[in-house]
Amino acid sequence: MPIAITELGHQRAVPIELAAAQRAAGEQDRGRGLERVLAPLGPGRAWYTRPAMQRLDIELGDRRYPILIGPGRLLDRAALEATLPRGPLLVVTNATVGPLYLPRLRATLAGRTLAECVLPDGEQYKTLATLDGVFDALARARVNRDGAILALGGGVVGDLAGFAAACWQRGIACVQLPTTLLAQVDSSVGGKTAVNHAAGKNLIGAFHQPSAVHADLDTLATLPDRELRAGLAEVLKYGFIRDAEFLDWLDANLARLLARDPEALAYAIHRSCAIKAELVALDEREQGPRALLNLGHTFGHAIETAAGYGEWLHGEAVATGTVLAAETSERLGWLTSTDVARVRDLVARAGLPTSPPRIGVERALELMSLDKKVLGGRVRLVLLKSLGQAVVTGDYDDRALRATLEARVA
Ligand SMILES: NC(=O)c1ccc[n+]([C@@H]2O[C@H](COP(=O)([O-])OP(=O)(O)OC[C@H]3O[C@@H](n4cnc5c(N)ncnc54)[C@H](O)[C@@H]3O)[C@@H](O)[C@H]2O)c1
Ligand SMILES: [Zn+2]
Repeated sequence: MPIAITELGHQRAVPIELAAAQRAAGEQDRGRGLERVLAPLGPGRAWYTRPAMQRLDIELGDRRYPILIGPGRLLDRAALEATLPRGPLLVVTNATVGPLYLPRLRATLAGRTLAECVLPDGEQYKTLATLDGVFDALARARVNRDGAILALGGGVVGDLAGFAAACWQRGIACVQLPTTLLAQVDSSVGGKTAVNHAAGKNLIGAFHQPSAVHADLDTLATLPDRELRAGLAEVLKYGFIRDAEFLDWLDANLARLLARDPEALAYAIHRSCAIKAELVALDEREQGPRALLNLGHTFGHAIETAAGYGEWLHGEAVATGTVLAAETSERLGWLTSTDVARVRDLVARAGLPTSPPRIGVERALELMSLDKKVLGGRVRLVLLKSLGQAVVTGDYDDRALRATLEARVA
């Protein structure tokens, strides 16, 4: 069957006959090396992945913003300028990311009025006190409604800077420049912004959509391995909840992702953002389908809290939580043991933990019931009907949940 090049995964990587992939790759990817664009998919078949630069336009009613994914995004003055207002700019970053990437951003935007606010690094600084410092910087830099905040960093910087933009003068533009895989596939997209309160994470916040996201793949080069793997947990999540075909692609391309192959990363980030954007568009304020994004998170939050924040990275807890959700789904008769073995295998091959700490059944249930997803006293869980199809439900047999916890955390 002849396959036109235009069909070869403009938006998606597609499985095609190897011969057709080789022909197409030969024409479109001359000089890129076949092994870089083709990943094997069993005998005679391959995944074809598009070149590294990807663009996604998010539509939310009357608002619209682009997500640009690729190498060199922090060096692309025209693309950045196209998404910035004319007024003064404040870059918010932290003491780890700033020294690495502020110089190139500064050079790219040379000539613009650009102030800088460098925060200490760490989730423990995602607070109202730190936010107050950002407001001081905004006042000093005279950032008004015609100005913008640029958030350069991981999810902590993005959430805090986004919240500052939501509040300052009742809302100014915020451009996200995410530098962790987690921020590129999750926190920079969707418009949730927040800081922590002593009573819990992300309790003070607002919905405020970014005016653009520029995800520069070059920044991932300095990301610690453990942080990269934690980001992969959220990437796997998108496959599990929504896209069996993406899951197959991940299965075939996990090694390339772990090796930070830019084309594989660009595709995985693009697909993840597309799935997140689709669910957010359906449900901007999280009443229904958006809750699917919390696969593994109710179990995960219990693990994070019981282990003490900082012991387990969020993505690690989510990965293990996803395994527990799959095991519960099997007990409900929704997944087969083969499905669950595949979940465990993917998580393990991504270098992520598949077993929770033994925190005790009652403690786990107590922590899970503190989760925001509780409705009318019942813990609502995100469970899997099949690999690639999640549901959020309070309507499940308690014995299945209890049996999973007895087996895994008692
Ligand atoms: N808003 C949302 O929808 C949403 C979704 C998921 C998570 N979050 C939030 O995101 C936060 C976690 O984000 P995170 O995982 O990115 O953590 P993070 O921002 O703490 O970054 C992890 C570590 O990597 C460092 N780092 C960042 N970029 C780097 C780079 N390119 N090179 C080297 N080091 C780099 C950071 O300084 C930090 O030490 C949490 O606060 C969580 O609540 C928000
Ligand atoms: Zn998460």
